Amino acid sequence: MNKAVIGLQWGDEGKGKIVDFLSEDFDLVVRYQGGNNAGHTVIVDNNTYKLNLIPSGVIRGKDCYLGQGVVLDLEHFSKEFNQIRKKVLNPKVFLSSNISLILDYHKQLDKINESILNNNKKIGTTSKGIGPAYQDKVGRKSIKLYDLKSKNIIEEKIYAIKRFYDPILKKFNESEINVEQTTEDLISFYDLVKDLIVDNSFVKKVYRNKKILFEGAQGALLDLDHGSYPFVTSSNTVSSNIIIGSALQVDYQTIGIFKAYATRVGNGPFPSELFDDIGDYIAEKGVEFGTVTKRKRRCGWLDLVSLKYSCEINRVTELCMTKADVLNNLSEVKICKSYNSKKYEDINFSESEILDSLSLENSDFEVFSSWGNITKLSKFENLPDNLKKFTSYIENYLNIPIKIISLGPERNQTIIR
Ligand code: GDP
Ligand code: IMO
Ligand code: MG
Repeated sequence: MNKAVIGLQWGDEGKGKIVDFLSEDFDLVVRYQGGNNAGHTVIVDNNTYKLNLIPSGVIRGKDCYLGQGVVLDLEHFSKEFNQIRKKVLNPKVFLSSNISLILDYHKQLDKINESILNNNKKIGTTSKGIGPAYQDKVGRKSIKLYDLKSKNIIEEKIYAIKRFYDPILKKFNESEINVEQTTEDLISFYDLVKDLIVDNSFVKKVYRNKKILFEGAQGALLDLDHGSYPFVTSSNTVSSNIIIGSALQVDYQTIGIFKAYATRVGNGPFPSELFDDIGDYIAEKGVEFGTVTKRKRRCGWLDLVSLKYSCEINRVTELCMTKADVLNNLSEVKICKSYNSKKYEDINFSESEILDSLSLENSDFEVFSSWGNITKLSKFENLPDNLKKFTSYIENYLNIPIKIISLGPERNQTIIR
């Protein structure tokens, strides 16, 4: 059966690690949305791999594919591909010809968009031009990978883009679009990647009857439609976008992945956020610093109310929990089970008035005793009783089994049930 690994929180749940772990049993690993706003860290035998665009299956030498739903910064991709070539023999990565590109002006617009908002309204984006690139895709202005075959088409498209955006760039003292330079750059990047570009129909044909693993980026609560709008990313991160973003009409099962606590980078509601020493302790011990922007991630207790919502919108059938090892020395570990004594089972994360009123003080918690060192365990049966109580509580609340537990960053610190 094909599978998808989808983040259930605000990203950084450990998707990269688990995709690397699972990919052994798959033929193709696919990204279907997002861009180099993603930062997926995988550690194998003390070697650290940091991937932003290339699916984590590349480390095991699996075939990898970036589907049409991804937005692609060619400069970044070329660097990342070169890096991975130094570590992996002949990595096989395909790019859908229908991918929309991120250009420099998207990054400038990302910066402008943030600059016009008041401090508490800033999204806190990764500044990679993601929002503006998707805006152009929806606005039918994108330069697609398939356009790069023709200098005339590139020039014609960039010229129209220039007429549209130059007035804004000028107004905010940003450099205007240079048609010649942009065309030249795109042509030289095209030379570097043209052998990797394939039509959607190619992947469909070659991988028919093969096993496919889909690697989500970001998390369900950052989904453009289902997340805490406007504090979201600009793509649909949920599993139902897989078919659109990959153009592969296949069935798949969704593994929902979450940390034993919660983190968020950037602004937006976070009901179980900790502002005390425990939050700082978790950030330090869990190394909660963004891979992409190096920002410190906000930390809080696991929030089952939002997790239940994420499981529903992703049709999650099995769960993977990561980073319980980070909490092992705390005197007590908490789980948020309701807001204002009420289970918001159908919480609408777009209702920011409700969410703004939520905080640690008016959330309700279940309290657990911690479990000591677990990083060397290799069997589910051997987990300490206190951790079993914690996982059973989560499973009962969500009514979904936890099938994978990650107990450390290394590939082999993973238990399957
Ligand atoms: P992703 O964006 O979902 O792929 O997650 P990131 O890679 O951005 O962040 C997860 C971080 O936690 C990475 O640095 C991983 O190496 C690390 N990690 C993953 N699983 C575990 C775990 O079970 N325990 C610990 N301590 N670290 C983990
Ligand atoms: P991975 O795949 C965590 C957040 C940003 C910001 C919001 C919008 O590593 O889990 P954007 O640049 O996408 O327009 O920023 O989304 N964000 C992430 N947070 N992990 C990610 O990816 C993220 N990608 C975007 O911090 O709040
Ligand atoms: Mg990440």
